[in-house]
Parts: sequence; structure tokens; C-alpha cells
Amino acid sequence: MASFFPRTAFRTLSALPKAAPWAKTPITAPLAQPLARRFIGSLPREQPRLRLGSTAPNFEAVTTQGQIDFHKWMDGCWTILFSHPADFTPVCTTELGAFAKLKGEFAKRGVKMIGLSANDLGSHGDWIKDINEVTGSDVQFPIIADADRKVAWLYDMIDESELANLAEKGIAFTIRSVFIIDPAKKIRLVMSYPASTGRNTAEVLRVIDSLQTADKKGIATPIDWQVGDDVIVPPSVSTEDAKKKFGEVRELKPYLRYTKY
Ligand code: BEZ
Repeated sequence: MASFFPRTAFRTLSALPKAAPWAKTPITAPLAQPLARRFIGSLPREQPRLRLGSTAPNFEAVTTQGQIDFHKWMDGCWTILFSHPADFTPVCTTELGAFAKLKGEFAKRGVKMIGLSANDLGSHGDWIKDINEVTGSDVQFPIIADADRKVAWLYDMIDESELANLAEKGIAFTIRSVFIIDPAKKIRLVMSYPASTGRNTAEVLRVIDSLQTADKKGIATPIDWQVGDDVIVPPSVSTEDAKKKFGEVRELKPYLRYTKY
């Protein structure tokens, strides 16, 4: 994995600080397993568990739109938090441009967007100019400047093999993570992609549609579901109750029942 990272990316990434700046970060979520040994020396805390349904950990961070307290910044909205390995890298550039172009689609669903890249603010500013130029987009959402990997660490956005190389390189690369967080600050989806694979914005929107529809209507959605397709009656609802609630119910098996969306 390590050899996959381009030399330019190493140059743009700053080394982890010797003293852990996130020592002061309060971690309120339940704690998981101990950290990789080389990292432990500089980290006073363990990572929170990021289970679906758990509260998204809060943090303070510097972003391209100023200092934020993440929970306050969410302001009771659906939120997508997505991370990138580094500024001025090709796949990340295409991703940021694509997400920026979908500003309207996310807004329509009431979703706030926030990116993260493991570089400082000055680098982010220059990179955004490049992204807009190359992809014809207009990046308007904030990007967290996470040069010290504080947020990447908190959200487990660190590649394991890179963690093992910390002693040698003094840095840990941030992977491509997506967190969809609901207005109650609960984590509803986690996606982790390797550095070599750009994400699929349509899938991110599709999951948001599924989650919001499920919450509103009390249904589930089948494989490859898209808005407008039939939805599934969850096992917790009897067919009799489903007919009262949804009208027509198509029963393929007692446990597999469709209804109109
Ligand atoms: C990129 O193209 O975005 C990228 C590729 C490899 C490592 C980090 C970033």
C-alpha cells in the first residue's frame, strides 16, 4: 500500500506533531481497542467506536470557512463528512469537484457537506482553485484542515498499513471515508474506500434517499433501489398492518413483501 502513495503526496503532507494536539479533545463515545503501538506514545486516548447508530464524535477544527465545533456546525441537519488522503492528488481532485457540482442535490435533501483533507489551510485554498479550474465546479462547502490527523484519527480514517509505517515516515495517510450523520447526530452510514478508488456520488445520494425514506415511511429499500421503485415492508410489520398502513402489499414470501413508495 505504502508504495502506492505518490512522492508528491508525501511532500505535501506534514509530519505528525510530537505532542498530541488532540490530547485535549474530549471523547465521549464508548472506547474501542488499543491503538497501534507506535501511535500510542503520542496519543492519550483510544479511538471511539463508530458503530452505526452511535453518536458521531464531536471535534473542533479549522476549516476553509473558519473554526468550527462540528456538532454546532451541523445545526440539526443531515450531514455528510468525507475525507481525502491529500491535497493536490488526482483522484481527490475529481472527487471534490464532483461533490461540489452536486451542491443542489444535497441541499434538496437538507444535507450539509463537509470535506476533510490532511493538509493545512494554505494548501487547501490553493487546491480549491485548482479543483474549480480543472473540474469546472465551485467548491462552496468547508474543507477541514487536518494536517495533524486529529479528526482523521477520531473518525478512524487512517490506513492500517500506513499506521504501521508511522515510525519510519512520521505520517499516516487518511483514507477515503464517508460518514452520513442524521439530525440527531447518529452515524447512519460509514463507507471506507482505498486511496486508489474514487467514490460514487450517486451511491451517496441513493443512501441518503433510502435513509430519509425509511425514517419517514417506516419501510426498507431493496438492492439497487432508486426513488420511485417499490419499497419493502420490514419484518417487524405484519402483512395485515402493512395493508392498513401502505395500502396494496405484494407478498412474494411471508418475509418478502413489497409496497408502492
Ligand atoms: C489521489 O489520486 O487522490 C491519491 C492517490 C494516491 C494516494 C493519495 C491520493
